[in-house]
Amino acid sequence: MHRQMLIDTASALVADDKGLLAIDESITTCNKRFAALAIPQTEAARHDYRELIVTTSGLAESISGLILYDETIRQSRSDGTPFVKIIVEAGIIPGIKVDLGAKGLAGHPKEKITEGLDGLRGRLAEYVQMGARFAKWRAVLTVSDNLPSRGCVEANAHALARYAALCQEAGLVPIVEPEVMMAGGHSLDRCREVTEEVLHTVFNQLYRQGILLEGMILKPNMLLPGLACPQQATLDDVADATVNCLLRAVPAAVPGIMFLSGGQAAGLASARLNAMNLRYKSQLPWALSFSFGRAIQQPALAAWLGKKDQVIAAQNILYYRAKCNRDARRGQFTGEAEKHC
Ligand code: 13P
Repeated sequence: MHRQMLIDTASALVADDKGLLAIDESITTCNKRFAALAIPQTEAARHDYRELIVTTSGLAESISGLILYDETIRQSRSDGTPFVKIIVEAGIIPGIKVDLGAKGLAGHPKEKITEGLDGLRGRLAEYVQMGARFAKWRAVLTVSDNLPSRGCVEANAHALARYAALCQEAGLVPIVEPEVMMAGGHSLDRCREVTEEVLHTVFNQLYRQGILLEGMILKPNMLLPGLACPQQATLDDVADATVNCLLRAVPAAVPGIMFLSGGQAAGLASARLNAMNLRYKSQLPWALSFSFGRAIQQPALAAWLGKKDQVIAAQNILYYRAKCNRDARRGQFTGEAEKHC
């Protein structure tokens, strides 16, 4: 196994108070986000949008790694330079989403299992050839009074562990993403209960598959009440609940925990990450960082709207949103940067 390489890549991903930017939306998801803003849902528009992101100047000050999608890793800038080359030359590590999406779990009508293990070894080898150094796989867990079922938690944890093992065999750092969804009316405590069970199950499976914990990254949800829960939580409540849960469930050998944003507003996601680092950073065994998609991209996408003359404005917003989260890693996010967005 590529032990030292995995350890080096994982620590580079969390170094210098930086985090990841996920731009790995599938064609369907990207088109949905475009449609909501009346941007044409074409390959050309997706290309131009991703070019806007990868050519944002100074992005590497806050972003250590970019998670790409299969379509994007094969694309080039209009002058023919491959996106991967631009990313690497900027000092950013290229990564790739390798799951094939969450599909209905047979026998569990409201639950999902993430697919993509068949043929994964071959696909990983191709992505390594293209320059990827880490990968991502997202499992989705829905919360209600009686969900997720044990069957769904175990099936997804098993798939995550098998994916992680194949990644490490290929020399790619696995980003292990079990996402407990925000949708629903559940309380913060119910989110804690589910997230803790999910994380224990995932780490049990990772252990069984022999995963090098020092050469992986965990990408969990923050602990939050469901979107429809009447009792929303303060920044400190979220920070306390999230850190306490992670301390109970995530081994100290894991170098970094890089949160997904899950649809939180951009400023709120930064403020919550900031509260965690402000209160706990010096006492934690792992780095608490970000691997946001929407919480960095969405304000920039809304400024771009598919218009050439808005590219610079959108890039400025992307840069600032990334910087907000680097500040949040330092416990120095004040919301000041919001004024620039
Ligand atoms: P969000 O931050 O928009 O949830 O996206 C992160 C991600 O990569 C989900 O898999």
